[in-house]
Amino acid sequence: MAKDGIRAIEGTRDYFGVDGIRFEKAFGAAAEIFSRYGYEKITSPVFEATGLFARSIGEATDIVEKEMYTFTPGSDSITLRPEGTAGVIRALLQHSMHKQGGLVKLWYGGPMFRRERPQKGRQRQFHQVGIEAVGSGDPLLDAEVIRMGLAYYERLGIGGVRLRLNSIGCAKDECRPAYRKLLKDAIAPKLGEFCKTCQGRFEKNILRILDCKNESCKKLAADLPKSHEKLCGECDQHFTAVKEGLDAHGAQYDVDPTLVRGLDYYTRTVFEYTHSALGAQDAIGGGGRYDGLVEELGGPATQAVGFALGVERIMIAMEALGCCACETPLQVYGIGLGEDCHKAMAGMIARLRNAGISADMDYEGKSFKAQMRAANRRGALVALILGDNELEKGEITVKDMREGGGQETVPLNAGVEAVLQMLP
Ligand code: HAM
Repeated sequence: MAKDGIRAIEGTRDYFGVDGIRFEKAFGAAAEIFSRYGYEKITSPVFEATGLFARSIGEATDIVEKEMYTFTPGSDSITLRPEGTAGVIRALLQHSMHKQGGLVKLWYGGPMFRRERPQKGRQRQFHQVGIEAVGSGDPLLDAEVIRMGLAYYERLGIGGVRLRLNSIGCAKDECRPAYRKLLKDAIAPKLGEFCKTCQGRFEKNILRILDCKNESCKKLAADLPKSHEKLCGECDQHFTAVKEGLDAHGAQYDVDPTLVRGLDYYTRTVFEYTHSALGAQDAIGGGGRYDGLVEELGGPATQAVGFALGVERIMIAMEALGCCACETPLQVYGIGLGEDCHKAMAGMIARLRNAGISADMDYEGKSFKAQMRAANRRGALVALILGDNELEKGEITVKDMREGGGQETVPLNAGVEAVLQMLP
């Protein structure tokens, strides 16, 4: 603990060591995969006007009702972003990106903030990588977006991802409003049997009753009308085309009528990726189509789809599956004994780094044994060893630190080349 007892705020954490590597990998894979699909990176502020989130995520959602970190430093009310979509759409409209013609594909990554009860996989500051594709209603785009999420998990070596899929229809009277009414009529006679939270949601946000985690509510919900069976003609066709698109990609999915998502901006397609390594908070990512949001935020009627993937939950899956466990942060460790060797080693390490190799050395004047221990602790693949005898002869020892690895003594000026040959 820090001397004065100060600790990280509950629900926040530090990322270092193997976890730090996993954290970086999650962002690195996002840059690689999302740009392969034509997405450009956008970085927007971590705080925005409170009204942006209230208008987009919805006043009656858990996030806006009770989870936002809202401050009023002057006369303005600002909120730490609980998610990335609202800010991206705000930026898109502010910079008229939607007027430049064609589909706008953006990706982002960074911290998000929700005042939820912390538990495994649920933090108050967490990180997401996400994408938004704005300007098309094409169901094949939904399929491509969903497939891209799966490609992302594959890139990180995370197998066993389950894809849940549903359609919650559109705002036309005969579609979601009619379904909502149907749901109301079906729930009303049994409302007393649902939990208190569901009873509260009956008037404000009835669809959320479907995804209540309470076992008895789940049983009751199983008999309720299913949204994907009550879609209007156009939404029904759209959902069929999304499923066909996923079939064409060879993506496995489960249509799950209880999937409604916790944000109000969704229309038609909604989806979630889950992983069994996670426990209760098993959603490692989620998203959907949101054809009304751009207009809601003051832009023209514009169709859009996107997702966000939870970095901490991805890291839990990576840990459970042993991803990254054998990776080393360091390729070469330099052991220089005595002042002259120390200096010569500093030059060699600099040359290795210039050649793109991760390399480090001792700066504490430690003994040979202690430096070898440091090389092992850092997981170095190769150790460079330089003592006075070798320096006099103009030689250096290159030791393969992997199991069964040998060592060789080479001319000092051939040391870098010898290391390069030895590295995988
Ligand atoms: P979301 O489902 O609220 O969607 O969050 C996406 C993912 O962020 C979740 O599946 C989960 O992995 C992670 N996540 C959410 N809350 C926490 C938390 N408290 N601690 C750790 N991880 C968490 C959205 O945020 C939408 N903006 C996604 C989207 C983009 N839809 C369209 N475009």
